[in-house]
Amino acid sequence: MAASALRFYEARGLIRSVRTPAGHRRYERATARRVAFIVFAQRLGFTLEEIRAQLDRLPRDRVPTGEDWSRLSETWQARVEERIAELERLRAGLSECIGCGCLSLDRCSILNPDDRVAAHGPGPRYWLGDERPTVET
Ligand code: FES
Repeated sequence: MAASALRFYEARGLIRSVRTPAGHRRYERATARRVAFIVFAQRLGFTLEEIRAQLDRLPRDRVPTGEDWSRLSETWQARVEERIAELERLRAGLSECIGCGCLSLDRCSILNPDDRVAAHGPGPRYWLGDERPTVET
């Protein structure tokens, strides 16, 4: 991990270091797990504020146990399920209309007549989980 990333996390209160007499940063061994947690939490889409709130639930007076980490990861279940569903929609929709409003595929004009999906909000609405309108025949 880049030293700049560690400094960034430290500046935001996600990890702590101690300084040597020469002014170098040293991290406790348990910090490696906190850093891994931060990296994967970011991959799941948690903001740094959310990550800090989660890490604040860990004990500060001792090295967190497996039970502490397990309790913390329970908050990830819903996010993991959301990400899996999102990635599955992404995989399934790569060659299909995604409801983004571009109308660039020949199937778009059928699946999104007059760009009606735009009324649901910006972005690729079908990838975001919006229902496809039923096509009248
Ligand atoms: S792919 Fe953009 S509206 Fe169909």
